[in-house]
Amino acid sequence: MVDASMLETLSRSTESCRRKPNIAIDGPAGAGKTTIARLAARRLGFTYVSTGSLYRAITLGLIRRRVDIESFEQAPDQDSVLKTIDVSLSYEAGEPRIYLDGEDVTDRLSDPEVTESVSEVARIPSVRAFLLDLQRSCAQGGGVVMDGRDIGSVVLPDAEYKFFLTASVEERTRRRLLELSAKGLEVAEEEIRHIIEKRDRIDSTRSVSPLCKAEGAIEIDTSGKSIDQVLEELLSYVAEPRMS
Ligand code: DC
Repeated sequence: MVDASMLETLSRSTESCRRKPNIAIDGPAGAGKTTIARLAARRLGFTYVSTGSLYRAITLGLIRRRVDIESFEQAPDQDSVLKTIDVSLSYEAGEPRIYLDGEDVTDRLSDPEVTESVSEVARIPSVRAFLLDLQRSCAQGGGVVMDGRDIGSVVLPDAEYKFFLTASVEERTRRRLLELSAKGLEVAEEEIRHIIEKRDRIDSTRSVSPLCKAEGAIEIDTSGKSIDQVLEELLSYVAEPRMS
């Protein structure tokens, strides 16, 4: 005879068989996380979540509220200011769109004023705590490829697959220069290199959730490799669907 608890166990194990795995991809700026995470999600039929975009949306929210970012960490009303910022995520034709206070701000998130301040904002503990639930809720049902700095270590420590993408500073500078020149922007190589090194320093030395390779993460050095090579290397580790 099958009783209710056996049925529940059976349904839970069927559920875990069907549940798609989550994939965490961390690494420094310019290592290729966004490109690879987006392509991997497309190939697997998973949902892509860029957590950097969420930090960027909060940064834009603070800028629009004319908050002084340098002193925000000491402000007594941090939590109440953050509570007024409504950040959400939705998908159009499988592509993520980020909303700030009801407005689609996806195309504003790489504006220089946002990029300049986002590392400073992302190091503030109250901001990190504020975004934690939103990030976790995105991955609740499985089937998510999430990229960031602390996904494998803090946000999704139970992710089935964890990757840490790296590339030399020279390579990352070169990629950024190419990206900017494709947009018709000419910036001195030294300046780009300096910005990358500064972001690395802030991201890796902050007190809460610094950029680090999570335990058990597979490291992929993307220097000198094509996008296809990195994608295939990463996917070669992913057995999908995971039937365990
Ligand atoms: O990936 P990105 O360049 O869009 O990230 C923007 C900033 O946000 C970057 O300085 C690191 C920070 N960030 C973070 O601290 N933790 C994350 N999970 C994602 C991004």
